Amino acid sequence: MKILAIESSCDDTAVAIVENRKVLSSLIASQVDEHIVYGGVVPEIASRMHIEAISNLYKEALKQADLTIDEIDAIAVTYAPGLVGSLLVGVSFAKGLSFATGKPLIPVHHLRSHIAANYITNPNLKPPFLALVISGGHTHLINVKDYCDYEVIGRTRDDAAGECFDKSARALGLPYPGGIHLDKLAENGDNSAFTLPKPKVDTNPLDFSFSGLKTAVFNTINNSKQKGIEINVPDMCACLRKTVTDILLDKISKAVELYHVDKLVLAGGVSANSEIRRRVQDYCNNNDILFFSPELKYCGDNAAMVGVQSLYEYNNGKIAQNNLNAFATMDIETLK
Ligand code: KG4
Ligand code: ZN
Repeated sequence: MKILAIESSCDDTAVAIVENRKVLSSLIASQVDEHIVYGGVVPEIASRMHIEAISNLYKEALKQADLTIDEIDAIAVTYAPGLVGSLLVGVSFAKGLSFATGKPLIPVHHLRSHIAANYITNPNLKPPFLALVISGGHTHLINVKDYCDYEVIGRTRDDAAGECFDKSARALGLPYPGGIHLDKLAENGDNSAFTLPKPKVDTNPLDFSFSGLKTAVFNTINNSKQKGIEINVPDMCACLRKTVTDILLDKISKAVELYHVDKLVLAGGVSANSEIRRRVQDYCNNNDILFFSPELKYCGDNAAMVGVQSLYEYNNGKIAQNNLNAFATMDIETLK
């Protein structure tokens, strides 16, 4: 089954064509250059840029796959969660395409597709497994029971890991999106130069909290400024990266104690982080757990992962009508 998939949940417009787990074409138009001057995503600009990019990406995706729309079997689209104005561009385009061609329309949850990015890179991977989804907006530990059956066993109480990286990076003067720049600088920093706090979450031992850590980074930067001392940026990057990884590993090991885990899957933009990948892999090796992560090009937002997940949604009977809407928030378990 050949599926044309569309992703526009944040600031990347993406169109891909997949056949089962094989990617026939995958295009991404990044808006980073537009948002960089504002230090973050401006939703109105993002929506407008999605509109400008989507038609050409659609044509190019077909061209690169050497297919016509008649040879496509279904249209898949991200419909939640994300910036609602951005999502609506992809959803409207997909609805129009489905209506005009009579092909089924498959709505896909953004975090489900991040997890599915692993199926592209690891063709033999099958649920059940434990997934750590770490993105700009989410930090979730998920018991993936089946392709469309999820149980969130831990989530962030406040900021996501990506947000903690991005806001801290901005305070350190790094360009948007900060996570990747912070990761690179951290390679040459001393990860014991600053002591950063590891937050305690009283409610659920598997829940995360990153806002206190972010505030501690801000306070350390401000205290240095007040004393007229220039902060060593690579050192702070290395300390923050290490602390975030420590927190993630602490929660993973608690989840492993509580659940039967023999496969661990990383997903989401932050899963591109080199220390997180390295140390989670080491942890898995030392504990007889199979480790999976997406290829770097499928860690961030892309449409290939949407297409791959949509096949399972379709097999599960999830087909939308032409009144499909976009939603800013939606739990991954929801079957709406
Ligand atoms: O999954 P994603 O592309 O978009 C959302 O669904 O949010 O994730 C984007 C996040 C941003 O916070 C970005 O800074 C972060 O992923 N990111 C990284 C790295 N590459 C991207 N964070 C840490 N280290 C990286 N190498
Ligand atoms: Zn994402």
